[in-house]
Amino acid sequence: MIVAHLSLVDYRNYESAEVVLRPGANLFVGSNGQGKTNLVEAIGYLGTLGSHRVSTDQALIRSGRDAAIVRARLQHADREVLLEVQLNRSGANRAQVNRVAVKPRELPRHIATVLFAPEDLALVRGEPSGRRRFLDQLLVQLSPRLAGVLADYDRVLRQRNSLLKSARGARVAESQLSTLELWDERLVGFGSEIIDARADLVARLRPHVAEAYARIAGADHRADLALELSTLGAQPDDDGVPTALDRENLATGSAGSATADDFRAAVARVRRSELDRGITLVGPHRDDLMLVLNDLPARGYASHGESWSFALSLKLASAALLRAESQIGDPVVVLDDVFAELDEARRAQLAAAIGDYEQVLITAAVFDDVPAELAGHTVRIRAGRVLEDGEP
Ligand SMILES: Nc1ncnc2c1ncn2[C@@H]1O[C@H](COP(=O)(O)OP(=O)(O)OP(=O)(O)O)[C@@H](O)[C@H]1O
Ligand SMILES: [Mg+2]
Repeated sequence: MIVAHLSLVDYRNYESAEVVLRPGANLFVGSNGQGKTNLVEAIGYLGTLGSHRVSTDQALIRSGRDAAIVRARLQHADREVLLEVQLNRSGANRAQVNRVAVKPRELPRHIATVLFAPEDLALVRGEPSGRRRFLDQLLVQLSPRLAGVLADYDRVLRQRNSLLKSARGARVAESQLSTLELWDERLVGFGSEIIDARADLVARLRPHVAEAYARIAGADHRADLALELSTLGAQPDDDGVPTALDRENLATGSAGSATADDFRAAVARVRRSELDRGITLVGPHRDDLMLVLNDLPARGYASHGESWSFALSLKLASAALLRAESQIGDPVVVLDDVFAELDEARRAQLAAAIGDYEQVLITAAVFDDVPAELAGHTVRIRAGRVLEDGEP
């Protein structure tokens, strides 16, 4: 799948822009702060319904305007699809597929993107929430139906938390406890489905991560993944850096009723603390994706270069999995400013690894940072404008 044409209206620093894109490598060049990342971020938005830089949509709307529009004409193997999203400063966003109104949530069924950016380092070094987001975005790209389950879980979590908060401190009334039990069941129902789906995804991703890491850093390095479950006693959000590799809390691959039973038992175990603290303490919103390098947790142990290689490997593995499993063909691979961060050898490895995807979009402030084989179709960007050919 490729993006053949992109239109932006009032998106970030673009008042309006029309960009023609080609199969293979497309390179966006321009000085710092001109709008290169903004442009590829807009394409990433269609695939993930979010930005890799901000957690809310407000910053994506041009300042002083009420709405932004991102429109992309996609070329699938044998047909064209027109996607459009309107981001509204107040009120819900709107979306269209082939000019028919749909829920924004439908867009990722038609476009898959994998975006590499300097921010990816936080996948390895940062908080668990970033790794959960990484897993869930990939899950939704592979099985769009799960967007609904994740939204249901979020809603149940918020309502359960507000009930816990209102029961906090006070003597808990019988009626509140029975309401809480109703919410427990919903939490366990949606939550177990998420835990199983993530565990299954991690199992499919592992060989791709190991392969990608060995390719970047050499065959004597072993990179691995495991899902760390709060329902089995892990507390990834509470302590800073893991002390060692604790295998007790890792998902074992048992699924279905066992997951729900463990979840129920965990909810019972933390009942008292939840009532004290007024928040839900176990569930997929408190789990973590543990990254393991040569049998040590990467977070807190891996060097800067190793952390970078791990982050790249996670993204390369995502692209490989989407290519292998997605119904809509290759994901659009986006490399935002990554070559500047890499040494010669890693640049060459990365270029070789993504070179044969149907479409690759690259941003760079310095043309010479980009390996020659990827410097194909070049688009120059200045101050929120796509320069015409021949324009100085
Ligand atoms: N909502 C917005 N409204 C108007 N301008 C915005 C908005 N959001 C960002 N900008 C502007 O967009 C510019 C940044 O664009 P972008 O991040 O795409 O730069 P870039 O070309 O990728 O630069 P670099 O090479 O430094 O990464 C900044 O000047 C910023 O002020
Ligand atoms: Mg940039």
